[in-house]
Amino acid sequence: MLDQALATIDARKQASLALLTEFLRIPSVSTKPEHAGDLKRCADWLAGQFRDAGLSADVHPTPGHPVVVAKNVHKPGRPTVLLYGHYDVQPPEPLELWTTPAFEPTERNDETGHPAIYARGSADDKGQVWCHVEAVRALMATGGGDLPVNLTALIEGEEEIGSDHLDQFVAANADLLRADVAIISDTSQFDRGLPAITYGLRGLCYMEVFLTGPSHDLHSGMYGGSVPNPANVLCEFIASLHDKDGRVNLPGFYDRVVPLTAAERAEWQKLPFDEAAFAASLNIPHGNGEPGYSTVERQWARPTLDVNGITTGYQGHGAKTVIPAKASAKISMRLVPDQDPAEVQRLFEQAVRDRLPKNVTVEFKQHGLAGPVLTPADSPAVRLAREALAAGFGTTATTLVRGGGSIPVVALLKRVLGIDTLLVGFGLPDDRVHSPNEKFDLDALHKGTRTAAALYATLAGLHATK
Ligand code: BES
Ligand code: MN
Ligand code: MN
Repeated sequence: MLDQALATIDARKQASLALLTEFLRIPSVSTKPEHAGDLKRCADWLAGQFRDAGLSADVHPTPGHPVVVAKNVHKPGRPTVLLYGHYDVQPPEPLELWTTPAFEPTERNDETGHPAIYARGSADDKGQVWCHVEAVRALMATGGGDLPVNLTALIEGEEEIGSDHLDQFVAANADLLRADVAIISDTSQFDRGLPAITYGLRGLCYMEVFLTGPSHDLHSGMYGGSVPNPANVLCEFIASLHDKDGRVNLPGFYDRVVPLTAAERAEWQKLPFDEAAFAASLNIPHGNGEPGYSTVERQWARPTLDVNGITTGYQGHGAKTVIPAKASAKISMRLVPDQDPAEVQRLFEQAVRDRLPKNVTVEFKQHGLAGPVLTPADSPAVRLAREALAAGFGTTATTLVRGGGSIPVVALLKRVLGIDTLLVGFGLPDDRVHSPNEKFDLDALHKGTRTAAALYATLAGLHATK
């Protein structure tokens, strides 16, 4: 049955790409209120595709963007798999840096000559969700209208803004979502030809800090040197956030960090990561970060703090002599086991208050908390996923990796439903996710679809708990 499904997937390459193109045309930018209608339209479109594939599907409203839940007919005695993905995407800006427009999906070769589809959301995460929809379609068509497992698909529209309403949705719909294992395709291969299973993700604490000094903007000549300048204060504060070695300078930040084990470091040392090629691909002379760690270690297993944006003062053409009344910054902290995002938020806010002069006031806005996760790397599910990758990609060279990004649902599913997640992603490191000219490799699309089909077949061998 799997062979037939794989043959169907091979035969549907063009049809699959045409439908993915429709998916990618919908500008489902979750962070912008003006796109709320597009998110609803995207959820409806996706639910329609699940129905076409033979599942039942509902679009559930939330206080934010809707959640799509699709199911086959569940039968006792076989494992239940929860597929998670997200249909929302990051903003496309800066628009002028796109070679072809972000929401006009275009097929062309990438810089290394491999065919790809270029569009916002192509790799993160619509293209990867699409692998599963097409896999389900092929399995249903060749399996007499059934799948080898009970499948529940949960595709949300708020991942890129922190999955704020998902906690409540999952808790309120626990019976609908209960499963033996979750699978997510929203990560990357280690490299072309080296598909990966990801067993850890960093968490996130994303804070925005707003400083206010004088009641209004002031002439920088008349007032300069006699009043607090929030822009200066913000820069001084930001400069205080790392010590001279590049470690994060927040009291208590490292207290719960679990050190890397020698065994893990030795494993990662064996991965074919080329530091020079990495730097060259970003057009920088060399990378940098916390002393004593490799790039891979810094990205996967060490906590960090980065300014993501600063807003203050005059931004227009030319000069304006002005002391801004306000200054703000967006700051992300990537967290590793066992750091607690809520605790990091508290210690961050405390440090800001401790470091500010008394004549500047501060307000905070939290834009997302996600727990760091480590999933079992030697479970039966991981073994079955290796088999599926071998069938899908035609190679047994599966790597075990961690990822530097965050997917809030992983910690949530563990905490609320006790479910472990299998992270089997099909992206490539140079997909430019969140950046202009995001693309998804067409070979990854095809092999990812094959892998997804194989996964539902191999996971049928998992022990069912209900
Ligand atoms: N797919 C990414 C997460 C990811 C990227 C994991 C690369 C591993 C490697 C996801 O869509 C994402 O961007 N998540 C946000 C989460 C946040 C907004 C809560 C992130 O990591 O910035
Ligand atoms: Mn994603
Ligand atoms: Mn993302």
